[in-house]
Amino acid sequence: MPDIASPFAPALAGLLARASVPPRLLRAPGPDRQVLDRAVSAALCAPDHGGLKPWRFVFIEGVARAALGDVLATSIAARMPETPPARLDLERGKPLRAPLVVAAGAALRHDHPGVPAWEQEASAAAGIMNFMNALDAQGFGACWLSSPALRDPAVKFALGFAETDALLGWIYIGTPDPSWQRPVRPAPEGFRRDWVPGTL
Ligand SMILES: Cc1cc2nc3c(=O)[nH]c(=O)nc-3n(C[C@H](O)[C@H](O)[C@H](O)COP(=O)(O)O)c2cc1C
Repeated sequence: MPDIASPFAPALAGLLARASVPPRLLRAPGPDRQVLDRAVSAALCAPDHGGLKPWRFVFIEGVARAALGDVLATSIAARMPETPPARLDLERGKPLRAPLVVAAGAALRHDHPGVPAWEQEASAAAGIMNFMNALDAQGFGACWLSSPALRDPAVKFALGFAETDALLGWIYIGTPDPSWQRPVRPAPEGFRRDWVPGTL
């Protein structure tokens, strides 16, 4: 716990401790709906230019994970017809690694006069980070993964997104295995500097 006399000190301690739990270290149980609703509520606190509310979270649990595996395998087979069956089986099994997989995305307005799509995606990504921080704060582990399937319109359709939406990640969620350890982070000095005009 940082030595800060503030009612927000526990929240800061949570931010400073946050880390991804790799899917191989995610166990049952996954979070219940109350935990997930708090996490989604945290996502809705992300900055949002124009109040467009781009955040979208699709929960994939239980047998639905196997169906997602089929969607992912079908996506690879369609994009790369030469893919060996063993590789397709690997893809099919991926969502089964954690009790809950969340397809996290952004509902995008491409016609907005003042808020380009990239800002809406940035807002959605900030929401995903809040979502993951809230899960960590409630004792659950999560890991944000990507794959080329995120950009496959057929995958988007299967999950209820429009082709013009952005699917930003697969968030694997569960209870961290007791062997999981939080990493040591670098010191902040290498990531910030003062800009002195005219000195560069
Ligand atoms: C948009 C995005 C996509 C990612 N995709 C992958 C991925 O496909 N595979 C992977 O191993 N890590 C991926 N990562 C990184 C992990 O989520 C995680 O950040 C990394 O393992 C480092 O752990 P840490 O979050 O505790 O620093 C991705 C991160 C982001 C933000």
